[in-house]
Amino acid sequence: MIKACIFDLDGVIVDTARYHFLAWKRLAAELGIPFTEADNERLKGVSRLRSMEILLELGHITMARDEQERLANKKNGWFVEYVERMTPAEIFPGVPALLQDLRRRGQLIGLASSSKNAPRVIELLGLAQAFDAIVDGTMIVHTKPDPEIFLLAARTLNVAPHQCVVFEDAEAGVESALAAGMACIGIGSKEQLPLADRVLPATGAFDPAMLATLDVRQPRATP
Ligand code: G6P
Ligand code: MG
Repeated sequence: MIKACIFDLDGVIVDTARYHFLAWKRLAAELGIPFTEADNERLKGVSRLRSMEILLELGHITMARDEQERLANKKNGWFVEYVERMTPAEIFPGVPALLQDLRRRGQLIGLASSSKNAPRVIELLGLAQAFDAIVDGTMIVHTKPDPEIFLLAARTLNVAPHQCVVFEDAEAGVESALAAGMACIGIGSKEQLPLADRVLPATGAFDPAMLATLDVRQPRATP
């Protein structure tokens, strides 16, 4: 039985994935690297520095680590500028109602985002009270596709991984959820997220009645 629903943030709760894309595109333009939305799929869910590495790979550019960090921080400055102008009106349609409905049904609700900006975004959206646990990029060593972040969220919620379902818009995030032994609802298209158990076009399209129909993974032996 599913006891906890764990949500990614960017692209699942709110369209901050768009702001990440715009900020990376701005940096790519400065570096003369062509950068499309399709390229951006590889950056979703992974850490800031890993994203920087992927961008440089796309442009066939090599660069010293401290310079990479400087540019990744510059991108973050732009991202933060976009985010600071955000209001709760930008939460995806149906998401607040879904979170309330899940809570009424007794589900525990977690947030697991690789972003170090996640707490600020949640504060700006006024959603802090909607989550029983929040895990962000400052609390983990390995970002998605490593399962660490979802396993930490499950531990914080005090549930076993096979009792969790994850909502994810990133390929790396789906891989991370499955590696953690959790069910996964992909948000986007089947082409982008072929490994997800189900794919929905939007988070608000999730019907909590689906919880009973999800294939629960076999419990894993705890190490
Ligand atoms: C999320 C986003 C990624 C982003 C990562 C790190 O996973 O999907 O696009 O690169 O967080 O975010 P940060 O805000 O810490 O740079
Ligand atoms: Mg995401």
